[in-house]
Amino acid sequence: MSKQVKIRRTTVPQIAARKGGEPIVSLTSYHAHTAAIVDNHADFILVGDSLGMVMHGMDSTVGVPLELMIMHGKAVVRGTEKALIVVDMPFGTYEESPSVAFRNAAKIMKETQCGAVKLEGGKRMAETIRFLTERGIPVMAHIGLTPQSSHVMGGFKTQGRDEDTWAIHEEDARAVAEAGAFAIVLEGMVEPLAARITEQVAIPTIGIGASAKCDGQILVLEDMLGLSPWTPKFVKVYGKLGEMIEQAVGEYADEVKSRAFPSEDQIYK
Ligand code: KIV
Repeated sequence: MSKQVKIRRTTVPQIAARKGGEPIVSLTSYHAHTAAIVDNHADFILVGDSLGMVMHGMDSTVGVPLELMIMHGKAVVRGTEKALIVVDMPFGTYEESPSVAFRNAAKIMKETQCGAVKLEGGKRMAETIRFLTERGIPVMAHIGLTPQSSHVMGGFKTQGRDEDTWAIHEEDARAVAEAGAFAIVLEGMVEPLAARITEQVAIPTIGIGASAKCDGQILVLEDMLGLSPWTPKFVKVYGKLGEMIEQAVGEYADEVKSRAFPSEDQIYK
């Protein structure tokens, strides 16, 4: 009789303990089968609200509803067994008050079975982060370029180009760390600022368009696979999935038109 060994998922304390250690590998994922592949390599998988743009053709993340995050979160949890799954709280579901944030974060965790949530904002979100973590909800913070605030920021703008603003971002990082966040995403900020923040806080920093000195890195999966029509400068494109799909679909269309598909071995007799 064979003994089945249940694989345990990476936990929030295990991610927090990686501060200054082996770099943390993470990617976004929105879909069970791609998440299963990512699960072989990533310490945590983020079901990011970028899915609004990447999967649903939205212009920004602002319109993403809670139900969509929950639906994709469930798919990613179903498709994986090792990585910690973190689900983004979408715009409008946590900013109003700590108790609104708790209600929506608890809904995400109960319905998806994910291990943590992520929310955007620094000092202004510290009270909410403390409220959630004290009540059993692990929070990953996200500072720097925060896409949900793109209307206030006037677009997707790299942060910290003016050194005079560094203190604000450093204060944001310290505030979310002190409030109990277990890790912080540093998005779209100049390299020396991201490196300074990484030195200053006791929790892991996860860079995206930030610094190789961060404690880990994250990319949007479709961007690094070459599936997105446009990718920011900081994305290294490791795959050519867009070209492969184009070629495969073109071949299929040609075969259908020339009645070469289905062939003898693709039909039931
Ligand atoms: O939504 C997302 O994909 C994210 C990453 C870019 C960090 O928040």
